[in-house]
Order: sequence, then structure tokens, then C-alpha cells
Amino acid sequence: MSQKNLILLGPPGAGKGTQAKELSTRLSVPHISTGDMLREAVREGTPLGLKAKAVMERGELVSDELLTEIVRERLAKADCDPGFILDGYPRNLAQAGILAGILEDLGKSDLLALELEVADDVIVTRLGSRRSCPDCGAVYNLVFSPPAKEGVCDKCGAGLVLRKDDKEDVIRERLRVYHEKTAPLSDYYRQRGRLKTVPGDVPPAQVLEKLERAIG
Ligand code: AP5
Repeated sequence: MSQKNLILLGPPGAGKGTQAKELSTRLSVPHISTGDMLREAVREGTPLGLKAKAVMERGELVSDELLTEIVRERLAKADCDPGFILDGYPRNLAQAGILAGILEDLGKSDLLALELEVADDVIVTRLGSRRSCPDCGAVYNLVFSPPAKEGVCDKCGAGLVLRKDDKEDVIRERLRVYHEKTAPLSDYYRQRGRLKTVPGDVPPAQVLEKLERAIG
């Protein structure tokens, strides 16, 4: 049986969201993106959103405490029983430890971390040309996957935006934070025999094929 409790690792803009959406459909398990959950909280002006907004706009990490209960509650929902795809969590070693505890409590400790490898210079180009739909969350790229009509979401017709953290200075800060805090997770999962790495700098369909092969 293929592994369905999945974590997607990789730098900002590696294609985690793009691949998680496809895998979610193919494996019939939910895509859980902490970035999407936080952006929704910011849009709705919830207490979590008010705390997270400025931190996200600077490209830094929101505190572990703010994320723990959200992730625990989401993973405890019935739709995660057949599996899940975590995108953007864990983000540092402390969160990896917290996640291990949550999954143990839920009896879901069997997991696989899939890492997308993409060089920093490719990331800066990709994120500068990403456009996102603020209404339905669809993601485009002006170079690789543009919308049919410039500036308009193909799926819902809303106006596309450049995420505030996709400005070049913030992208570079996110990459710095990634290398310092998130990259050590590769060793964490490798040492536990739970890591598979695939190249993320080939076209999305090829990345998906490699991920599916890694999942088994
Ligand atoms: P989050 O939303 O998680 O951002 P991220 O990890 O920086 O990832 P991105 O969404 O930018 O990129 P992606 O890898 O999903 O790439 P995508 O598929 O869109 O987090 C945002 C912020 O929230 C954080 O900075 C932090 O402040 C906070 N946060 C979130 N989780 C947290 C946590 N656990 N703890 C603390 N804080 C947290 O693709 C990128 C672009 O490339 C798109 O335009 C796409 O079309 C294109 N593309 C994708 N694949 C390919 C390909 N193979 N070839 C060419 N182009 C491609």
C-alpha cells in the first residue's frame, strides 16, 4: 500500500503547493497548507491573522505556539483518516518534534517526507513571476503557467495579485530563514529513514511523476 501521510519539504517557491494540490486529488487525501490557513486568517482579520500578518510580510516564521493547535485540530479531523499532505509544516526542528507528538497521539506516526530540491536563483525568478488568486487560491506563473487572460483568474474571474511576501527583498529573507531553520529538517527525516528527495527544477508534470514514484 502506498504511503499517504505525507509532508512536503522544500524552499519557498519549490512547488510544494502546486504538487500538493495534484497529489491531493490523485490520492484523495486533504492538502493542509499552514501558509494558506494563515493567509485566510489574515484576510478574515481573526486574532491569529492579526498576530501573523506583519511577521509573514517580513518573510519570517510565525511563532510555533500559534501553529500547534491549528495543526493538531486539522489533523484530528475525519478527512485525515486515510492520510494527508502537509505543506509548510513543520518549518523548524521544534515543529517537527511537536508534529511527531501530535501524530503519535492520533496514531498516525507512519509518515513520509518528500523534499523538492530547487536552487535559490531559480526560486527568486519563480516567485517574482508568481501570481495568486486572493479568492480561490489558484496559483499561476507569468513565465511557466500564465492565466488565459492577463491578470484574471481562470477559475473564478477574480483579479490576480503578487503576494506581499513575493517581493524580491522578502523572497531573499524567506530563503535565508529557510536555510537557517527549515533545511535541517532534511537530516531530521533522513536519519529516521523517512525522507525521499526529488528534483523540483523540472516541469511540474515530471515533478509529479517523480513524487508518485517516491510515494510508491
Ligand atoms: P507558505 O505559504 O508555506 O510559503 P512557502 O513555503 O514560502 O511556499 P510558497 O507558497 O511560497 O511556495 P510553494 O513551494 O508552495 O510553491 P508554488 O507551488 O506556489 O508560507 C508563507 C508564510 O507563512 C511564511 O513565510 C511564514 O511567515 C508563514 N508560515 C507558514 N507556515 C508556517 C509554519 N509552519 N511556521 C511558521 N510560519 C509559517 O510555486 C511557486 C511558483 O512556481 C508558482 O508561480 C508556480 O506556478 C511555479 N512553479 C511550481 N512548480 C514549478 C515547476 N516545476 N517549474 C516551473 N514553475 C513552477
